[in-house]
Amino acid sequence: MADPPLGSHRSPSSSLSKRQLATATRRHWQLEDLDFDRADAASVSRDWLSFRIVATASFIETASDLYARNLREFFAGDDEVVPWLASTWEPEELRHGAALRAYVERFWPAFEWEERFRAFLAEYSRTCIIPELEASRSLELAARCIVEMGTSALYRALHGYARDPVLRKLAGLIYSDEVQHYKHFYRHFQRYHQHERQSRLRVGRTLLKRLLATRGEDGLCAYRQVWDFAPTDEPFDADYGVFGRELTALIRRHAPPEMLTHMILKPLDLPPPVIGAAAKLSGPLYRLWLSAGN
Ligand SMILES: [Fe+2]
Ligand SMILES: [Fe+2]
Repeated sequence: MADPPLGSHRSPSSSLSKRQLATATRRHWQLEDLDFDRADAASVSRDWLSFRIVATASFIETASDLYARNLREFFAGDDEVVPWLASTWEPEELRHGAALRAYVERFWPAFEWEERFRAFLAEYSRTCIIPELEASRSLELAARCIVEMGTSALYRALHGYARDPVLRKLAGLIYSDEVQHYKHFYRHFQRYHQHERQSRLRVGRTLLKRLLATRGEDGLCAYRQVWDFAPTDEPFDADYGVFGRELTALIRRHAPPEMLTHMILKPLDLPPPVIGAAAKLSGPLYRLWLSAGN
């Protein structure tokens, strides 16, 4: 399977084009599509930045069932969101986790994935709870757009950084899924927003809050179980800071700021004359997100 096209981040249109129809009916990728034998195991296993990104992401993605359970409960009675979460979103996030885990176990076999994941889950499950969701359904959907923007940025950056063709392909496949997740959450946001009519200020505050939190709790809990496997002379806090700065540099280098700022601002539904001015503000917004957690 060829790498997916990167940069297809246009908003969903009301009617499906031939290309979209073909994409919709195409078989979704599977772990078996990745040929790990193509990788240069010796050089991969020395790439500690890839290890730290992939291992951290593998924990967060594998724990998606916790968040999925919360979302299903939060959207109970919605016969569009709940089936999509169960049939598409959760299985795809878990597939990301399984593929990333398989990559870690293949190239860093001494990393005790199962044991460390259990330690991560014990801590993370205390914060991944329904009271932590937003105050309304439309606001939670706006927040989900920011989370999917963040994962899109991460995998886009990993795709750009990775020299190993297998990791490059995997990051590209996950990136494509994350962009689709963004589009779905955005569509459901629009649906709820029509009824809730939250003020632009309230939506903006929610976006900003989640923007500053995307590098927060789950990443910190996951990294706590990953950092000491890679060579480091730093204590945990300092090492986490270094990791954050390395990620920021990767995202700056490989993820187009126009794409990310478009994804950040879209739920605000700004009128056309304001979009130009908002685009100027989006630079600082983008930098604010990148600096959060550093
Ligand atoms: Fe994912
Ligand atoms: Fe996602």
